[in-house]
Amino acid sequence: MEIHRYEKLWTAAALLLIVGFIATVTYGALGPGVTMVDDSGGTIDSGSLGETQFGDPGVTQTGENQYEVHVVARQFLFQPGTGSPIRVPANSEVTFYITSADVVHGFEVAGTNVNVMAVPGQVSEVTVRFDEPAQYGIVCHEYCGAAHHTMAGQLVVVP
Ligand code: CUA
Repeated sequence: MEIHRYEKLWTAAALLLIVGFIATVTYGALGPGVTMVDDSGGTIDSGSLGETQFGDPGVTQTGENQYEVHVVARQFLFQPGTGSPIRVPANSEVTFYITSADVVHGFEVAGTNVNVMAVPGQVSEVTVRFDEPAQYGIVCHEYCGAAHHTMAGQLVVVP
């Protein structure tokens, strides 16, 4: 029986697609990989944040112009950040450590390059310089539940 020319063509195209998909999946599993979360901050037991520096989150001065800020994201607020703004001085280098107490959240300081995920069990670390006094909004950019759109905070760089 003769196979129609187009049927051969489409069969070949379909086989090529399958090979392509398998190659993509194999590359994804064995290739150089993509880091979705900055894992430089390490891991943490999200069930006992109280026994860590996240138990009393906030701003800590670590050097003349250096600060650490520990932030806990939870449905639907940032601790600190929501209600009371995070305050850091201008001309400072600030390292944020962010984790989540429940589900995956986002932590974006709008207008800066601070944009990480807040993942339970994981500490996201990001360092940024603030040269000028300013006010920034902090937004959660990962859908985290019914009030996700209300989850926001403030960062104030004071003179
Ligand atoms: Cu937290 Cu969206």
